[in-house]
Amino acid sequence: LSSFALVMFWLMNACHWMHEFNQSLKYDKRMYAADITGSISYARALARAKILTEEEKIKLVNGLDTVREEWERGEFQVQPGDEDIHTANERRLSEIVGPLGGKLHTGRSRNDQVATDMRLWLLGQVDDIAQSLRGLIRVMVERAAKEKNYLMPGYTHLQRAQPVRWSHLLLSHAFPLHADLQRLEQMIPRISVLPLGCGALAGNGFQLDRDFLAQDLGFQSVAENSMYAISDRDFVAEFMMWASLAMTHLSRMSEDLIIYSTAEFGFIKLSDAYSTGSSMMPQKKNPDSLELLRGKTGRVFGNMSGFMMSLKGLPSTYNKDLQEDKEPLFDTVDTISASFKIAEGVIATMEVQGKAMSRALQASSDMLATDLADYLVRKGIPFRETHHISGRAVALAESKKCSLQELTVTDFQSLSDKFGPDVKEVFDFEHSVQSRSSIGGTHIGMVERQIEVLRAALANQ
Ligand code: ARG
Repeated sequence: LSSFALVMFWLMNACHWMHEFNQSLKYDKRMYAADITGSISYARALARAKILTEEEKIKLVNGLDTVREEWERGEFQVQPGDEDIHTANERRLSEIVGPLGGKLHTGRSRNDQVATDMRLWLLGQVDDIAQSLRGLIRVMVERAAKEKNYLMPGYTHLQRAQPVRWSHLLLSHAFPLHADLQRLEQMIPRISVLPLGCGALAGNGFQLDRDFLAQDLGFQSVAENSMYAISDRDFVAEFMMWASLAMTHLSRMSEDLIIYSTAEFGFIKLSDAYSTGSSMMPQKKNPDSLELLRGKTGRVFGNMSGFMMSLKGLPSTYNKDLQEDKEPLFDTVDTISASFKIAEGVIATMEVQGKAMSRALQASSDMLATDLADYLVRKGIPFRETHHISGRAVALAESKKCSLQELTVTDFQSLSDKFGPDVKEVFDFEHSVQSRSSIGGTHIGMVERQIEVLRAALANQ
């Protein structure tokens, strides 16, 4: 092949390959409504600045409304040359209103336009996401309210540690999700900053009233630095960091529930609707819903860290790398919305096996070894010493091949003369959980307090 032929080959194909590589319309068309809303406000601002006559403004706004209707009805015809949602909408607008369409972009750049669209679009999603997160937390809280009498082993290191109420465990997953809800709401003022009217990078040269634009579009504030405004994707990164943390919370809860749903634990039964069978083993019921919640956490993290890689090292203001913000953000929004919904479904429909929980408790009275130590503390012995005596009691039971609670009062008294016949009262799981009655403990009143705290917080949001 001569070098001339080689160059011709690359040039002839470039048009198609480069267009495919460069275009974002395939995915950014989902922001069509935000793009049109932004353009309508921009036309109003241009008219206020006397760049457009009233009549021109009305024509443009009507034209933009028509473009929106075409998208809504699925009638918008994408043309081969359309690169992104901004050029596609403007091309179509000009077809409808004629050369006047070319006036809309006066003083505007796709740089301030796309940053505005992304923020508008995300603000629209945040409300829905908060709503589904609220729904999930509510289901968890109401489930906890109903099942607060179930006791189960609480684990550290996945080893039986101390008895707790099942509701206490469930709420231990609801609180971090509620903190996520607060974090999401606190993010809104940082998303709601208006870039429009910053032009390509240096600002707008047509005395556009940006306060009017912000008000008209419902933004809380106006970006103060045009160069920052058009290159800033911190809100995208922050949202994905938020989503990564929220997914981590879902993932840890899923992991608990996966373990509890095994035959070895048997504490919960997932409903069939949220499990699947095995293609080979007829007896299997797999917790696919929970495994996907856990697995998709990796995907959301990947979206976040991948985009951070794209941002790192960019020179000032707009670079096309920034177009890489969209797919990870859209995917993150879709994934987390679906995840909250599925998590809510799983929790609403699973069955809790109180009997299996209590069987697991009965099988391990040495979980009350701490309570035994606490008993001696109440008789005046320093905790470090009681901890030691209680350890010896566990060892004694082991050597006698019986459980801790099967030791006799005489056995106990051989370890310390502070033991009385009332030591037998220690071996009562209900007594144990009820002794944890400070705020935050697993005492019924303290669990009810948690339920009230979350109910009140949700009612105010
Ligand atoms: N599709 C582009 C993006 O998403 C729009 C901005 C293009 N700006 C530019 N100067 N080429 O980032």
